[in-house]
Amino acid sequence: MLLEGRARSAETGDNYHPAFRAVRDVIGRDTKGKNMSFFTSHEVYLLIGDLETVQELYTTYNKIFDKHPVIKNVTMELTGRSILFAETDELWKKRRDAIRPAFYKGKLIEMIETAKDCMRGTLDRWTKKTEQNGDGSAKIDLINEISLMFTRIILKCAIGESLDDYEIDYWVDGVNVRSDVPFSLRNTFQKLLDRQFLPWCALFPYFHTKFIMPFERDILANCKALRALFEHMIKERRDLIKNNPEAAEKKGDLLSILLTDELFSLDNEMIIDECMTFFFAGSQTSSVATQNLVIHLLKNKHYGDKILKEIEEMVVKPHLEE
Ligand code: HEM
Repeated sequence: MLLEGRARSAETGDNYHPAFRAVRDVIGRDTKGKNMSFFTSHEVYLLIGDLETVQELYTTYNKIFDKHPVIKNVTMELTGRSILFAETDELWKKRRDAIRPAFYKGKLIEMIETAKDCMRGTLDRWTKKTEQNGDGSAKIDLINEISLMFTRIILKCAIGESLDDYEIDYWVDGVNVRSDVPFSLRNTFQKLLDRQFLPWCALFPYFHTKFIMPFERDILANCKALRALFEHMIKERRDLIKNNPEAAEKKGDLLSILLTDELFSLDNEMIIDECMTFFFAGSQTSSVATQNLVIHLLKNKHYGDKILKEIEEMVVKPHLEE
């Protein structure tokens, strides 16, 4: 966890920085078994590996911490000023409140239905692959397929379209090679994150938001193409709301929640920021967790058998007996 302790006006009169005071309060004096280390470089770092402490810092003590700006700055061209990396101020609170309805139980149940629909599309894709070979088998790039699977689901939940047949400008070495949207989203975001390790960015944080090399300018152009696409989707939805409000109401995705919210409805940039963030927060996390799970199960078949047996006994059989 990388956080930035934000100095607040002295509340307690001791000499601790508020961030360190919080850590001291949470951990108390009993640090035994709590994995922590402390070091200094050009900044002071306190690394915390104790899950309970991290949880407390994210919840009870959330308001006195900000995320360290490095990720916000390197991803700014794509995700803008979304809630994920924003400072915990009043605007952050209002944006968060506006997004909350997207995670109400009813909405999550709708999302599961959307996910099931998208999953059927993915299964069709895999079936077609096996049919092409004629012998019922197919070679699958597991990482790419799982990533594609979640990309389709989250895009549908965020903006109502999985954009399967859509192509977008995608720049490599100064040449526009065009790409599908999931590929561009995934790779552009990853390349933005990787920029923090470029020597000039690592040494001079000033460069986090400056794209100076030709390959960095490709990344910047790809960010702009993706944001332009999302802006186009917003425009189309605004037209739908105007011309066919009943059809628009049925959409029920994040885009329609934001377009009917007072704070967001007139600000395209803010809507793009949150849709992009919802997309990355939802797709890359689930995708990597599933990729790891599948690889572990392939390597340890007995766990897979145990899970299948449990599903059979706890879910399938009781269902058949009903
Ligand atoms: C295995 C799957 C997932 C993992 C491991 C995961 C993990 C996390 C973590 C650690 C954070 C906090 C990040 C931070 O504050 O720096 C976060 C925030 C967030 N996640 Fe997830 N997540 C997962 C799935 C999802 C899904 C499926 C969605 C949406 C459909 C989602 C939406 C969000 C959003 C919107 C935030 C920002 C919340 C805020 O800052 O107020 N996540 N996630």
